[in-house]
Amino acid sequence: MLPLVFTGNANIPLAQAIAKEMDVSLSDAEIIRFADSECRVRVETSVADRDVFVVQSLCNPVDENLMEFLFLCDAIRREEAKKIIAVLPYHGYARQDRVHRPGECLSAQVVAKLIEAVHVDKLLTVDLHSEAIMGFFKIPVTHISALPIFHPLVQSLQGDVVIVSPDAGAMKRAQHFAEGVDAPLAFIEKKRDLNKTHTIASMKVIGDVQKKTAIIVDDVIVTGGTLVNAAHMLKQMGASRVIALATHADLVGGSDKILEDSPLDAIWVGDTIGVSDDQQFSKLEIVSTASLIADGMKKMIRV
Ligand code: R5P
Repeated sequence: MLPLVFTGNANIPLAQAIAKEMDVSLSDAEIIRFADSECRVRVETSVADRDVFVVQSLCNPVDENLMEFLFLCDAIRREEAKKIIAVLPYHGYARQDRVHRPGECLSAQVVAKLIEAVHVDKLLTVDLHSEAIMGFFKIPVTHISALPIFHPLVQSLQGDVVIVSPDAGAMKRAQHFAEGVDAPLAFIEKKRDLNKTHTIASMKVIGDVQKKTAIIVDDVIVTGGTLVNAAHMLKQMGASRVIALATHADLVGGSDKILEDSPLDAIWVGDTIGVSDDQQFSKLEIVSTASLIADGMKKMIRV
């Protein structure tokens, strides 16, 4: 029997596209938001003895989307589904993977405990900020990279290309991408000011970017600050063009203008998080992750 696919409200177009790739329609659930912002969830498709996927990106508004996801899983479990597989195209809180300063909460571990508390059997997620958070789960976690969706765009470029890691933490991801497109690697040494949110203290380019198209590979864009600062540095260091790509675009108010007005020549993102019409801008290109995610889901239940 084909599996069922449910979603919350985080990114309905992506869930629909994934369901289509799985040859099913989205299953019905009622999600009511009360005036005081509490939500109430009820599944309206029979799930008894079925394999059920719950697709939900934990993107902005992250806590609302997280609670919808948890309530959906609980409702599905109560109706005696055979198996619940969580599909988190974007795993929010993954950047809080360690205690950066004494006194901080280990948020990614708390989120892992919440997901397990609603009896999810398995989890699939995409381009985690930190793979280390897989260790917070006792259930099996399948981690896939959506970065190959950008290979054709890179391969269509003329001239020399260099792949750039925007910070030391992103090095492994950028290195893997560089191998996939057969290009050399450079990296930026970035230091954040941990006492101020969204603040970069210093940046330095390491590697040869002269007269090349520099392609910055990141997991997520939020304010755009990391990419814009990197683009300025790369152009100063002689890069002829700077393109940024990221799997997740968790854009906030104003980041569209910051990115559009920046030295970046193009920004390519996946659709794990929806970008509303008023956040779109001319340099932005969105590439679908649906078939790649659906392939990963099919392997988990061997359809
Ligand atoms: C940080 O380590 C992440 O990989 C991203 O580079 C960062 O979160 C992007 O945020 P923003 O767009 O606000 O600079």
